[in-house]
Amino acid sequence: MSQFKIAPSILAADYANFATELKRVEASGAEYVHIDIMDGQFVPNISFGAGVVAAMRKHSKLIFDCHLMVVDPERYVDEFAQAGADIITIHVEATTHIHGALQKIKAAGMQAGVVINPGTPVEALIPVLDLVDQVLIMTVNPGFGGQAFIPEMVEKIKRVAQLRQEKGLDFDIEVDGGIDDKSIKATKDAGANVFVAGSYAFNGDLNERVATLKKAIEA
Ligand code: DX5
Ligand code: ZN
Repeated sequence: MSQFKIAPSILAADYANFATELKRVEASGAEYVHIDIMDGQFVPNISFGAGVVAAMRKHSKLIFDCHLMVVDPERYVDEFAQAGADIITIHVEATTHIHGALQKIKAAGMQAGVVINPGTPVEALIPVLDLVDQVLIMTVNPGFGGQAFIPEMVEKIKRVAQLRQEKGLDFDIEVDGGIDDKSIKATKDAGANVFVAGSYAFNGDLNERVATLKKAIEA
């Protein structure tokens, strides 16, 4: 817990060259690669599925941080485990059985993460906090890269960090959406330690951008 990690989001990379893009992420010094799975139902956009993740796995030893924006994600846990996912993060809004779904991720030998949309209160996380390795606070509405950071989410990060302390738990706090060299600082100060960056990381020199994000949180 609490070690800083940068997670460039492959959603903003060149889809025709994932092998090369993964090597670039690795070379940048980023700790994770964030992989956004979208089904066109939970969110309007469609990205890619476990087959693509399995293909990526052959080209990278990076930690695969898979963010599932799909309805009833429990249906895909085994498939992503086989594909080589390290962390699977699922939305409380996407399943009737969030507790069981998280148990299924752990039973499959992966790290389990839980995530809430900007419109969902932190309270929805409380019943499953003791099950997870990671809590993700969405700082945009999920579905697309390149959206503006929602500053009101910073309070939620603080509240989750406070709950973690009160309950004596040990999980990472990740933020996703609109993270750049400016917004990252407030999320770090609030208690986040895993930072997803899509458009900021890839719309420029990746090495330089990852270094700038690291500098911003280490300052
Ligand atoms: C949005 C995804 C994000 C996305 C972030 O639904 O969950 O991971 O890639 O992209 P940026 O950093 O451009 O907001
Ligand atoms: Zn994401």
